[in-house]
Order: sequence, then C-alpha cells, then structure tokens
Amino acid sequence: LWRPDERSTDSQSQHQLREETHLKSKTLEETNMYKEYDDILELNQFDGLPYSSRFYTLLTERKQLPVWKVKSEFMDTLSKGQFVVVSGSARTGRSSQIPQWCAEFCLSAQFQHGMVVCTQIQAQQAVDLALRVADEMDVNIGHEVGYSIPLETCCANDTVLRYCTDDILLREMMSDPLLEHYGVVVVDQAHQRTVATDVLLGLLKDIALQRPQLRVVLLTATEPRPKELGHFNTSAVPQIHLEDLGVGEVVYSSTRDSYFCSVIRLVLEIHHSEEDGDVVVFLVTAQEIDLAHEILRHEAQSLPPGLGELLPVAVHPGQTGILPVPREGETRRIRRVFLTSSPNEDFFWAVRTIHFVIDAGLQKRSVYNPRIRTNSTIIQPISTGQAKSRHQLAGPTGKCFCLYPADRRLPAEIRPHIVESDITSTVLFLKRMEIAGLGQCDFIDRPDPEGLMQALEELDYLAALDNDGNLSEMGIIMSEFPLEPQMAKTLLASCEFDCVSEVVIIAAMLTVPTCFTVPSKDLKLEAAQCHMKFQHPEGDHFTLINIYKAFKQSQTDPYCNVEKWCQDNYLNHTALLMADSFRMELTDILKRIELPVSMPAFGSRNNTINIKRALLAGFFMQVARDVDGSGNYFILIHKHVAQIHPQSGYGAKSPKLGLPEWALFHKYTFSEDNCLHTITQIKAEEFIEMVPQYFFYNLPSSESKDILQNILERGTSHSHDEKPSTTQSESQQDQSYDRCVIQ
Ligand SMILES: *[C@@H]1O[C@H](CO)[C@@H](O)[C@H](O)[C@H]1NC(C)=O
Ligand SMILES: *[C@@H]1O[C@H](CO)[C@@H](O)[C@H](O)[C@H]1NC(C)=O
Ligand SMILES: *[C@@H]1O[C@H](CO)[C@@H](O)[C@H](O)[C@H]1NC(C)=O
Ligand SMILES: *[C@@H]1O[C@H](CO)[C@@H](O)[C@H](O)[C@H]1NC(C)=O
Ligand SMILES: *[C@@H]1O[C@H](CO)[C@@H](O)[C@H](O)[C@H]1NC(C)=O
Ligand SMILES: *[C@@H]1O[C@H](CO)[C@@H](O)[C@H](O)[C@H]1NC(C)=O
Repeated sequence: LWRPDERSTDSQSQHQLREETHLKSKTLEETNMYKEYDDILELNQFDGLPYSSRFYTLLTERKQLPVWKVKSEFMDTLSKGQFVVVSGSARTGRSSQIPQWCAEFCLSAQFQHGMVVCTQIQAQQAVDLALRVADEMDVNIGHEVGYSIPLETCCANDTVLRYCTDDILLREMMSDPLLEHYGVVVVDQAHQRTVATDVLLGLLKDIALQRPQLRVVLLTATEPRPKELGHFNTSAVPQIHLEDLGVGEVVYSSTRDSYFCSVIRLVLEIHHSEEDGDVVVFLVTAQEIDLAHEILRHEAQSLPPGLGELLPVAVHPGQTGILPVPREGETRRIRRVFLTSSPNEDFFWAVRTIHFVIDAGLQKRSVYNPRIRTNSTIIQPISTGQAKSRHQLAGPTGKCFCLYPADRRLPAEIRPHIVESDITSTVLFLKRMEIAGLGQCDFIDRPDPEGLMQALEELDYLAALDNDGNLSEMGIIMSEFPLEPQMAKTLLASCEFDCVSEVVIIAAMLTVPTCFTVPSKDLKLEAAQCHMKFQHPEGDHFTLINIYKAFKQSQTDPYCNVEKWCQDNYLNHTALLMADSFRMELTDILKRIELPVSMPAFGSRNNTINIKRALLAGFFMQVARDVDGSGNYFILIHKHVAQIHPQSGYGAKSPKLGLPEWALFHKYTFSEDNCLHTITQIKAEEFIEMVPQYFFYNLPSSESKDILQNILERGTSHSHDEKPSTTQSESQQDQSYDRCVIQ
C-alpha cells in the first residue's frame, strides 16, 4: 500500500481547493450570521471559528446515521472505562462518527492525555475518512483532522484526529512505544484481524495497564467473539451493538454451471430489468475480475442505448484510487458494476448507490508455509460474518444474490492472518518493542509455532539476534527500516560495500508494487521487447536500476512527457513515483542514523561485485542452481525445483542472456506458477564468501551443496587460513557496525 507522490500533490491541490472553499463558505456564513442569528454565534471548538452553513447541513445528515442513537451511551462508557467495543456495519457510520466523539472526549480533557488516532486496514480508506470527517467537523484537512499512510502524511503536530493504517501506527511505536501522543486509540475493522491489528491489540493490552488514562475503542463489523472480548484484562469489556439498517431481499441459488457464468448472466439481467442501482460482485480471483471486466465491457457495447450505460469497474484488493462514484446532478444513466475479490466489504461504504450484491461466497487466501518459505493459495468459503456484511451492503431495499445454497454451512470465523503469515518482520518489530519496555506481546491467537521458529531462525541467520536471543545491534538498525528483514540486511551490507546509492534503488523498486505494466495479450511481445532495452547482463536487480535511472533521466528532460514515456515503455508511472519517494524515505533514514551513503558508482566492475555481495548478505537463503542447464532451478534451502518467471530477463522470451548456473532470486511463488522472480546471476565463490557458515552447514545435503563444499575446501586449503572467509567478512562487518551511531 505504498502511495505515490503524484497522489500527494493531487491531494494537496485537493486540500488547497478545500481550504479555499472552506474559507469562502466561512466568510459567507459570517455575513449571514450577523444578519440572521446575531447573538447565537456558535464557535467550532476545534478551530475557534464560527461554523459554516455546510456544517449544519452535514450535521442533519449525520444525525440520521444509526450510530447516533448510541452517542450518549458511548460517551458515557468512554468516560467510565478503558475499553469499549462497538459493533455494526460500516453503513451505520461507526468509522466516521465515533472517532469524532472521541475527539470531543479528548477536548473535554483539554488533550491532557493526548489526541485521537483511528486505524484502518487500507490506506485509501484512511484518506477518504479523513477528508469526510474534516468536512463534517468543519475544519481543514491536515490541521485538526489528518491522515498518515505509507509515503504520505497529511497531519500537523497538533492534529486532533488522525486516521492512519494499522502498520503506520505500529511504526510510530518505534519512537513512541506507549503511544503517549494519544489519549484514545480507535482500532477500526478489528474483525479483519490483519497481522498489524493483532500485534497492535496484543501490545495495547500492556500499554493500557501502564497508562490508566488511555482509552481503547474497538470497532468491528461483526459482534466480537468471546476470545476477543476476553483478551483485555478486565472482567467485562462494555459492548455497544449498532442497529442495522436492515437487510433487503436475499436470494440463494446454486446452479450447476459455475458461479462465474451466473455472475455475468445476473449482471445483464439486472441491467435489463432497469431497476436503479449499482452492483457489487464478489468474485474469487484476480483473473476472474479481469475476465468479467472484459466480457461485460464487450457486452455493454451491444446493449440498447435506452437501458443506460453499463460500466464495469475492476477493484483489485489493495488497489488504491478512488471509486468512480456518481457525481451530483449526473444526468446520464450509468450503472456501475464493481468487480472485486476483496474481503474488505467496508471498502464500498462510501458508494451510497449500491442496490445489488452478487456474492460467489468464496475467497482466496494466501497461507504462508514455513517449510517452503512461501505462500500457498487456498480457496475457502467466506465466514458467516462476511456473508452478513455482504447482505447489508445492498441496503434495506436492495437485493443480494448468493451463488451458493442457503443451507451451506459457513465457518463462524476465518483464521486471523497472524497464524498464517510470514512473521519474520513482526518478530523483529516485537523484539524491538521489548527493548522499549513493552513486555511480551499477548496475542489473541498465537502465531503458528513452526512459523515462529522459522522467523527466529531466519533472524538469527541474518545476525539480527545475539546469543541470548535478544536483538543485536545489527538487529536494532535493521528494525529502523520499513523493509523486510532480508532487504534491511542487504541495505546495511551495502554500507559496508560502498554501494548504498544502488542498493537503495533496488530496495525501493522491490518493495513498492511492480513497475512493469501487464499489457493485453496482443501487446505482450512488444512490451517484452521494449523492456529488453533496459536489460542488464548481470541480472534483474541491475535491470531495475537501469529502469529507475532512465525514469529519472526522463523526468529531468524538459522535452519529455514522463507519463507518456512510461506508457511507451510499458512501465507504470505511479509505481515508479512510489519507488522514488520510497527511495528518498530510505535515504532519509540512513542519514538520520548516520550511516554512510556512498557516491553513485553504477556500472563499475567493483560496484557490480559489491551489489551482489550486498544482495547475498541478505538473500543467501534464496539461492538456486540450474541442475541440468535447461532452467530447472534447485532451491538450496528446501530442495524444490522451480523455473524462472517469463518476466525475468532470463525468462523464455529473451534468449539473449544465457541461463546462469547459480541464481539469487527475490521471490518464489509456489502455488501460482512455481516460478522464481527477479533473478541475478552469482558465482558459487561469491555465495561461499558471503553465506554464514552455520547456515551453510544446516543446508540439506544435495549435489549442489557438495559442489559448494568442494569449493569451500579448496579455498581454505589454498589460502592456508585457519579462519574461513565468511567469519572474516562477518567480523569486519561487526567492526563497521560498532562504529555506527544508533539513535
Ligand atoms: C512538533 O513537535 C515537536 C516536539 O513535540 C517539535 O520539536 C517540532 O518543532 C514540532 N513541529 C511543528 C511543526 O510544530
Ligand atoms: C489482571 O487483572 C487482575 C485484577 O484485575 C490483576 O490482579 C492481574 O495482575 C492482571 N493480570 C495481568 C497480566 O496484568
Ligand atoms: C504471501 O502473502 C502475503 C499476503 O497476501 C503477501 O504480503 C506476501 O508478499 C506473500 N509472500 C510471498 C513470498 O509471496
Ligand atoms: C535479554 O533480554 C532480557 C529480557 O529483556 C533481559 O533480561 C536480558 O538481560 C537481555 N540479555 C542481554 C545480554 O542483554
Ligand atoms: C500501476 O500501479 C498502481 C499501484 O500498484 C496500480 O494501482 C495501477 O493499477 C497500475 N497501473 C497500471 C496501468 O498497471
Ligand atoms: C576495486 O576494489 C579493489 C579491492 O577492493 C580496490 O583495491 C580498488 O581500488 C577498487 N577500484 C576502484 C576503482 O574503486
């Protein structure tokens, strides 16, 4: 969910616009006020200015929301105890109204105990909510109300109410472990149980004990389960349940053909019925979304014009960008069909014109498998809570078509993400929090023991832990970076090897979404040929640097339209802008902790070797060997055999580069295609030089290991050196890190 610079300028101009209209409406209001109300001049306590007329208009609207029925009960509960749980669908207004009331609560205590923060699981929602709430509170976005999401902050020091993503709040804890900046922490969408939410809840338990004035508000779509309620150490957490607006008609059907065909048929039937309203379709995979989008777009062209326009909109999970909602005074009849596979029903809260929901009743989940160190994909039924949220999305007068039998037994809950994700970064973060004085994180559901063991082992291999299993100095510096631990280690190693300028680009390009656009089938070949001109003979990591540099070059060229340049080269402008801002963020962190940033030296022989060394220092666990010269790569750590992804420079389309015998890869996707992504060729000797010995000796035996073993033995007998080269470079590294100043 990294966000581009582009949006920040976008939203900045949006803010400017808002500020202008805001100021204008206030002056207008002031003149009115003197005319009409004279002595009932009411001031907004948050900014000390008179309320605009828009405030009163919105207030009337807000008071219709179901959540307003419980306002006094909520305020009462908040003043009495530390915890409160409010459950109800997004349409009740819980996410926009309750945080405002919390702000009133903090204001009444003159912010003695801090401000309000409200977490969201998606960046776009945090932005949307902040904009909406600033409008409702009649204040300026970025001042009294703001948001903070990866790569974009629109907040001041004294922002009273801040919306942020759950992972951003965790990163804030690095400098403010007890969250002392806040008097109320609102955890929204707690039912989604993302890894970051679970970690937050685990730590909040301890923080609440240490800070008796802190208030914790949990907002969930479904009623919390006893385990979740029992989590906090109080006898009874007060619960407020919000009344639903009611559910419209729910139709179950199980056709013998696939749900996909039913979806297409239903959408067209709805459109032909001429009943007003937009449609949300819950599909399962990204491919289905794209296919449905293509089919509906095609069908839409041959519909009779009298029916109005049919507009399919693909909404991929994690997608940023604003949904095309109806504009006021829109005269053309448009029926939007949102095609999604997102488990996040709340995402559609702002689209008030939804009248139909079509639900396949299934979802795709990525489950981390520590044995092969990658995800497996499973498709499973949605939970009863999710089914209910989807019914409600159609509104009290709408229709929900469930493409499964009414008597299908849905699971009562979905396993929280913490038990089926790679938790290496989480463990690194928690170790860091331990140093900051937060004891054990008390999880609602404990992570999978095997996953936890693997995470600890991996951190140990990366030298992030000391002999007691505490964070080492290296581990502390690694935890400063918003990067996966292997990449953080690579970045630190690049300080040692004088190639920071280059590695920081690699880190940025591989952390933000891919910069390659996926063209339609007929353009695939052209796109591949186009990408070939960026290809670097040493591998894909180097190619990424080429692309980034070409992009920066095009930015400085006054005659170049950068967006068009990206389009012409089948590159994603948004993703490249994100990579650029993320590179700057990483550089800032390096400077802050006073690590040396080397001069650019891309292209020199030393630089090439050093980049590979840095990559190996972090990714030595991701090395594979072509066993038969035909592209069957044997992954050393777990003995799976995989192929190179066609997107790679070594992929099938470009025979220009010969296949490397030894390859370092960035990612291994097992269930989709059994492919290795982002490959750089290495030499066996380079691997031997950089790999920690205790990792090497733990590798399962194989022909490839024997080859390495031979090289290792030859190497040591040649140099007559007692100490193997790895420990040498390790101790060199240790020395240099000792010199680093740690904040
Ligand atoms: C924000 O607060 C910090 C310390 O609380 C202070 O050092 C900094 O100058 C403040 N920034 C602004 C813009 O007020
Ligand atoms: C939980 O609360 C009880 C009393 O309310 C207290 O005695 C106990 O120490 C608390 N447990 C923890 C782990 O803080
Ligand atoms: C596994 O899935 C998670 C969640 O979808 C994702 O963040 C992560 O990058 C995936 N890991 C790999 C190795 O594909
Ligand atoms: C390791 O961490 C534990 C718990 O924080 C602490 O008691 C212990 O002293 C630490 N050990 C070292 C060597 O710092
Ligand atoms: C470019 O990347 C952004 C961020 O991942 C994504 O939302 C967008 O759909 C991409 N655009 C294209 C044309 O692929
Ligand atoms: C390349 O590296 C070697 C050994 O590390 C060093 O002696 C040499 O000066 C370097 N060359 C340049 C141009 O930096």
